Amino acid sequence: MQDKKNTVIIGAQWGDEGKGKIVDVLAEKFPHVVRFHGGHNAGHTLWVNGKKTVLHLVPSGILHKKAKCYIGSGVVVDLSALIEEMQSIKKAKVDIEGRFFLSSNAPLILPIHPVLDKAGENAKENKIGTTGRGIGPAYEDFVSRRGLRVHHLYEKCFEERLDALLAYHSQGTHGKEIKELDRAELIKSIKKMAKQLKPFVADVPALLAKAIEKNEAILFEGAQGTMLDVSYGTYPFVTSSQCVASHAATGSGVGAKHLHNVVAVTKAYCTRVGGGPFPTELDNDIGESLRQIGHEFGATTGRKRRCGWIDLPALRRAIALNGVDSLVLTKVDVLDTFKEIMVCTHYENSKGEKFTLSPFSLEELEGLKPVYKKFKGWKSNSADVKNWDDLPAKLQDYVIFLEKQLKTPISIVSTGQERESFVQR
Ligand code: GDP
Ligand code: IMO
Ligand code: MG
Repeated sequence: MQDKKNTVIIGAQWGDEGKGKIVDVLAEKFPHVVRFHGGHNAGHTLWVNGKKTVLHLVPSGILHKKAKCYIGSGVVVDLSALIEEMQSIKKAKVDIEGRFFLSSNAPLILPIHPVLDKAGENAKENKIGTTGRGIGPAYEDFVSRRGLRVHHLYEKCFEERLDALLAYHSQGTHGKEIKELDRAELIKSIKKMAKQLKPFVADVPALLAKAIEKNEAILFEGAQGTMLDVSYGTYPFVTSSQCVASHAATGSGVGAKHLHNVVAVTKAYCTRVGGGPFPTELDNDIGESLRQIGHEFGATTGRKRRCGWIDLPALRRAIALNGVDSLVLTKVDVLDTFKEIMVCTHYENSKGEKFTLSPFSLEELEGLKPVYKKFKGWKSNSADVKNWDDLPAKLQDYVIFLEKQLKTPISIVSTGQERESFVQR
């Protein structure tokens, strides 16, 4: 075993748990940071010295000059979104030359994909509430082997593959919208972007293999969250990629044995954006307070996040699915003013039977009711606290209760949006 542990950061809920902040905090100690799935549906927020950075594709280690950042082959890449993000990073005087790499075999999100995504959503009665970024359609084309990958941009087959893809979708349900795209314009703009990105395209698995050979530690940055995982989440109200820790290996091109440490991030309460079940949702004033105090509005789409209490059956599921070594509990400061704080310890069915693990079937989940344990709020300040002993005693009790219930240590308690605002235990 290496002395430096490669660590995977994943979301334990429905996304937006604060993964970006935690990756930024940890990246100081990791020379390599890799995104391994999802695309610009992700919105990862970093605050450093009062300055906000929102990243969608570029890994959240980018503000650390010494960290090399990679987009792995499991990420679906929208060229224009990536270029826009790289430009805004450069504008903020962060140098990315020689330290940012795009995997040559990452699948592409092309302008047809957001069109298909939005048209697909519009046609649905029971909407998923996607980000409209083309994530699902791009993964569909990838898996069907119709899609284009980064390396195709520089190969003779590029136009042929693009034409085949356009022809395929022109015959589909949303063919009218696809036929309206100007082929010549499309090719011109893709080629221009391909040229701009060429210096960053690399054999990422080979680069990571070298890092492993040199015993340099890698931080894998998950996007979305376990309950949005296409296999294990609240299907079909999920994203189209695997969000669990084991996918860090396939999505970046390293062997599974190189994943040494799994850290799951969870809020001290719970949020969800888009449609789908949310057993502990608070569609009332308390939910609204969580939204306002926690600034629970999407980092990607600006949509209102649905808010509710922490859900231990869902977290137990996430801990088992990811093989979690430790948890990070974020946004405890948001609860500072609440009189009462509830924890959903388990679910119950109509016969009063107890369920400690959330089920995969939505029909089954619908028949279950969350059962809560009530905590008195600590009603004092935890914002920006950096030492365990300085946290309110009732908050300490809350953390210890969660650890016991989840049988997993909470290694970091995050107390604010700023990089320095956390307690390391
Ligand atoms: P991600 O997608 O998991 O990276 O999370 P987002 O960036 O979408 O959403 C998390 C939000 O919470 C961001 O606005 C962060 O700045 C903020 N945040 C992260 N940790 C904390 C914390 O401990 N306290 C507070 N108040 N805000 C936090
Ligand atoms: P980060 O990395 C929260 C949700 C969408 C929708 C569903 C499917 O910032 O935590 P998609 O566009 O992926 O097909 O949408 O998944 N979703 C997220 N929710 N945080 C995210 O990313 C999300 N990425 C996708 O709202 O419900
Ligand atoms: Mg987010």
